[in-house]
Amino acid sequence: MKTVKSIYEVKEYVKELRRKGKSIGFVPTMGYLHAGHLSLVKESVWRCDCTVVSIFINPAQFAPNEDFNKYPRNIQRDIEVLEKEGVDLIFIPGDGEMYPEGYKTYVGVKNLQDRLCGISRPDFFKGVCTIVLKLFNIVTPDISFFGQKDAQQAVILKKMACDLNLDVKVEALPIIREKSGLALSSRNEYLDKKQKKAALCLSRSLARARKAVEAGEKNAARILKRIKAEIESEPLARIDYVEIVDSGNLQSLKQIKDKTLIAVAVFINNVRLIDNIIV
Ligand code: PAF
Repeated sequence: MKTVKSIYEVKEYVKELRRKGKSIGFVPTMGYLHAGHLSLVKESVWRCDCTVVSIFINPAQFAPNEDFNKYPRNIQRDIEVLEKEGVDLIFIPGDGEMYPEGYKTYVGVKNLQDRLCGISRPDFFKGVCTIVLKLFNIVTPDISFFGQKDAQQAVILKKMACDLNLDVKVEALPIIREKSGLALSSRNEYLDKKQKKAALCLSRSLARARKAVEAGEKNAARILKRIKAEIESEPLARIDYVEIVDSGNLQSLKQIKDKTLIAVAVFINNVRLIDNIIV
């Protein structure tokens, strides 16, 4: 396994892979890897000849009041774990490598980026699209793997790849959960024991919504009401949003239909967590 810091080194490595006719799987991450990330890495290693993982905490997707500086980091552990998984190349650029002085170009996906998480994080998806497009241009993967926990991110990146005629297949893989139901996230690290217990209201409210749908409930307003009541019964929780939308275009739905996305964002104290299900 090789670890590199420069775009030049990645491009040279990829050129050689292409010359040998190898397929490339890519998993972009911000590091502090957990079993959710590793499920993406395993899938890539399984399906592609070579796997590239990037570790870059992208400043462009954090607002000034957000947690860029305290975002958890453990590069050494990440490298060891990725080596065991059979990754071929790790790309760990510095901020100046990705955004050199005078950097000016940003991309976004209209409408899709202004909903759900985009309401309380207005520049977030512009930052995500920009870094992912840059990484796609550098790594030129055949397939890139993302987690379904960030459902809106996956929808937006698929649309970006399609609209910009990128030769990459963007795939979203299932959410990995703790036994308790809590969706894995690097931000769970910020929670103490009590807060972690409180955070179960996200997955619990979604599991109850799924049950209601399975029992025949189709009315979105009634399901939203149940989810909100469940979350609001947890004193440490504050709802950012609860939405029932079409999983393709993220437009709100009045009735549940096939492949409906039910997504929640909730603050547990000041830690913002997201979770979702597709019913
Ligand atoms: O999902 C993430 O960890 C990030 O948004 C990504 C895709 C690595 C871009 O910085």
